[in-house]
Amino acid sequence: MDWGLESRMARIIRPSTGRGVMLAVDHGYFMGPTNHLEVPSKTIAPIVDYCDSLMLTRGVLRTSVPASSAVPVVLRVSGGSSIIGKDLSNERITTGMREAVRLNASAVAMSIFVGAAYEQKTLVGLGKLVDEASEVGMPVLAVTAVGKELEKRDARYLSLACRIAAEFGANMVKTYYCEDFEKVVESCPVPIIVAGGPKVSEREALELVHNSVSAGAAGVDMGRNIWQSDRPVPMIKAVRSIVHDNASVDEALELVNSS
Ligand code: 5RP
Repeated sequence: MDWGLESRMARIIRPSTGRGVMLAVDHGYFMGPTNHLEVPSKTIAPIVDYCDSLMLTRGVLRTSVPASSAVPVVLRVSGGSSIIGKDLSNERITTGMREAVRLNASAVAMSIFVGAAYEQKTLVGLGKLVDEASEVGMPVLAVTAVGKELEKRDARYLSLACRIAAEFGANMVKTYYCEDFEKVVESCPVPIIVAGGPKVSEREALELVHNSVSAGAAGVDMGRNIWQSDRPVPMIKAVRSIVHDNASVDEALELVNSS
């Protein structure tokens, strides 16, 4: 791995544990002012110091995160469809590589929609993004998006999507946790980061984190289960304790309940 690429990767997946906690606040790019993320600066400020990296769009980065913040940025560079539009899979690259470098991004992220109407467009887009990113030593995170078809979250489908992302050159893949997740990890030659998903109870969210890293995930990219919690700071600390300190679910939950 080239030095610049390796250095950027080390900001996202900590070499000391081989894992990372990514805080996702990119939801507005297709969902608009999501519940508890209506004013991004207010949501981000109290919890940003507890993540290893922050995933967001350039608009929210520039308006809502001080440039003095040292947080490594995973810049979402794809979009083009909204939650009320015709087809969520109709995405393309919306932010260029020079802009990513200008914003001091530590990685760029785009969604691929395997099996959806615009599968080919998003996969070819991934190939092009990897070409451009390689020129400047920028890691690419491929997000295996499922759109509205949540039934696709099984090991067979997610293994297919993650493997294709890695074959196209993604340096990291973000996907969903599922039964037999070890199989998804085993057949993907690059680190896998697990997305949080819609808000569930704190115990269920922490179980998801624990199950994911126990099955070999290199960390989580969690949003709603942190900032839609009544206790976002203890919640992100609890997530960290599992990811980096191998805490049990009960130990992590205790951090939340004793706050
Ligand atoms: C949406 C995303 C989100 O960043 C991802 O889903 C993580 O957020 P959450 O934990 O709220 O699901 O990439 O495409």
